[in-house]
Amino acid sequence: MKILAFNGSPRLKGNTATMLDNAISGARENGAEVEMFNLYKMQFSGCISCFSCKRLDKERPIVCVVKDDLKPVLEKVRGIDAILIATPVYYGSESAATRALIERLCFPYLNYADYTTSHFPRRIPVGLIYTMNIPSELFETMGYDVTFGRTRATLEREFGSCKMVLANNTTQYNDYSLYEANATGEAKKAYRDAHFSNDCQNARQLGEQLSYGKVFNA
Ligand SMILES: Cc1cc2nc3c(=O)[nH]c(=O)nc-3n(C[C@H](O)[C@H](O)[C@H](O)COP(=O)(O)O)c2cc1C
Repeated sequence: MKILAFNGSPRLKGNTATMLDNAISGARENGAEVEMFNLYKMQFSGCISCFSCKRLDKERPIVCVVKDDLKPVLEKVRGIDAILIATPVYYGSESAATRALIERLCFPYLNYADYTTSHFPRRIPVGLIYTMNIPSELFETMGYDVTFGRTRATLEREFGSCKMVLANNTTQYNDYSLYEANATGEAKKAYRDAHFSNDCQNARQLGEQLSYGKVFNA
């Protein structure tokens, strides 16, 4: 049982990395082998629209041909049993590095001639973790359910199934008195103390579920 995990946050000890660590622990405790990549430590771009992966003279499945730090990682995807992606929310979407990963990961498996099928040869589960500043009450008002639902649908189409876990109202600063903020450090701490360990527990359960390598039920 092999899982590839991606931290899409530049902060290597932030909320996203903490949630991801919990998910990885949940998977490893269940016997999975997990390899983790910090996307902001790697040099790579998003899709460059070369359409090499859409050439008819190439045998499917095709791995993205762009040569950079991501290429050897994408080559590993052929042989894995689950994928775990964790990202902070930046401007209502995934971080830039996470979006670049998703483009390069998914587009070669997208069947441009028939959107109902995927070139990825197996059905595997994908775990998607988001951490964000907004409180959960604003999640739908801000349209995040639609935006993140679209990403989930993309991953589901190419790989079979995708489950999301969220952490809201995250703490960004150690000392809120030093930075611009729309909340006090006390309010943030109170929310974190009440909720973040539960969010991490949800991430841990996601990791456990991924370690079975079975697609999630709809
Ligand atoms: C450039 C930038 C843009 C952000 N945009 C949003 C946003 O649109 N919505 C939101 O809820 N949080 C936003 N945030 C807050 C982060 O998503 C949130 O604090 C997250 O938990 C940070 O994760 P980290 O600790 O792993 O860095 C933004 C943060 C940054 C740095």
